[in-house]
Amino acid sequence: MSDQETHFVFDPMVRKYDRCNHFFSLGVDHFWRKKLIEAFHPHPHQQVLDLCCGTGDVVFSFLKNSPVQSITGLDLSASMIDLARKKQTRYRGRSWMQKKNTFWKVTNAVQTGLDSNGFDIVTCAFGIRNISNRTAALNEIHRLLKTQGKLGILEFSLPSNPLLRYPYRLYLNRIMPSLGKYILGDKEPLRYLAQSIGHWHNEVDFSSELAQAGFKLIRKTSLTGGLVTLWMAVKDGVFSVYSSVEQD
Ligand SMILES: C[S@@+](CC[C@H](N)C(=O)[O-])C[C@H]1O[C@@H](n2cnc3c(N)ncnc32)[C@H](O)[C@@H]1O
Repeated sequence: MSDQETHFVFDPMVRKYDRCNHFFSLGVDHFWRKKLIEAFHPHPHQQVLDLCCGTGDVVFSFLKNSPVQSITGLDLSASMIDLARKKQTRYRGRSWMQKKNTFWKVTNAVQTGLDSNGFDIVTCAFGIRNISNRTAALNEIHRLLKTQGKLGILEFSLPSNPLLRYPYRLYLNRIMPSLGKYILGDKEPLRYLAQSIGHWHNEVDFSSELAQAGFKLIRKTSLTGGLVTLWMAVKDGVFSVYSSVEQD
């Protein structure tokens, strides 16, 4: 799927996107994003970039669950960023939003136009699978990170335990698209999700792709029985360590 086509999958569902996310994951998506953030053990003055930020849930989770003071959210879809800005306005009074700098940018993660070596942390939650030119995106992330900067990627996967895998596939391929028709009025976005997760899990060797893009200390952790995988990697990071991520 091209980036433009991806745009068409996400744009029509923007208004219902958050509700769908929380509904279909039974609210566990908040926990996955929190795990991603904890893995960095972030410091207040680190510069953070969240790619494919959608409606900003990783950005807001960083502001809520870490001392980070400056964060940029970037997405191809202007409608997603619009919603992120609206959420930011809604959260304005919250204590965790005080004295924080949040920037939003509508652009392609493959060619961001941002300065080289500008970020200590780059994240991407449930977005890398949708980028058609992943090699270019990983090269771009490598360019954007400072030396020893860290990358964290969350992506859906399939459980390795067959007892969990079979019912999960049924849920993904049959139940979710049907519920999607009811909630979104269209089966297609959820069908696309199921297909792309299957393709990603079975066909893509993402750890090798990270290594090819020049990342080091690549670490892969399964979350929630393998429903989601967290990849951590470092740009030229001989001395970098991650804070430990507990498997659940
Ligand atoms: C499944 S959503 C994930 C949103 C968010 N990270 C989250 O955790 O909920 C994927 C997002 O990736 C964005 N996207 C897809 N291809 C992109 C690209 N090439 N560059 C930037 N954003 C992209 C879509 O617009 C969409 O908002």
